Amino acid sequence: MDKKVSELLNDQINKEFYSAYLYLDIANFYSAKGLDGFANWYQIQAKEEQDHAMLMYQYLHNNSEPVSLEAIAKPDKEFKTLEDPLHVALSHEKYVTALINNIYAAAQSVNDYRTVQFLDWFVKEQGEEEKNSTDLITKMELYGSDAKALYMLNSELAGRTYAAPSLVL
Ligand code: FEO
Repeated sequence: MDKKVSELLNDQINKEFYSAYLYLDIANFYSAKGLDGFANWYQIQAKEEQDHAMLMYQYLHNNSEPVSLEAIAKPDKEFKTLEDPLHVALSHEKYVTALINNIYAAAQSVNDYRTVQFLDWFVKEQGEEEKNSTDLITKMELYGSDAKALYMLNSELAGRTYAAPSLVL
């Protein structure tokens, strides 16, 4: 595999674990506010991010590429309002989309179509993640200021269950 593509994928393992850490921090924030449904949503999101990291890890191993695990940065976002984490999550997902697109472009530029095909799943996944983040902001804007509606939204988010990724390597 091209060295740059391999390094970008290796870096992305770290970024995905950081995403898990960020979402766990958001879950932590909502737990402390008594919003267990929001906390559940982000705990599951954190699990999905760990899955993303492990898919990259396994892909590199499957291609006999070295994997180097680096330190995961401390989540340092400050949340003041109940909406703050939702906006942080959306802008983070947009950032991750840009990272995935960058690896995609690097793989394409060296005709590494195997990696391009592997990343197709992530491109689609990023579309879903950005939509989920945007939808949550919309719901919060619509209902967040009403206590009963917030209770219902929290109950809805409590119903999210974990599903393993559809991509199998
Ligand atoms: Fe791994 Fe939220 O993208």
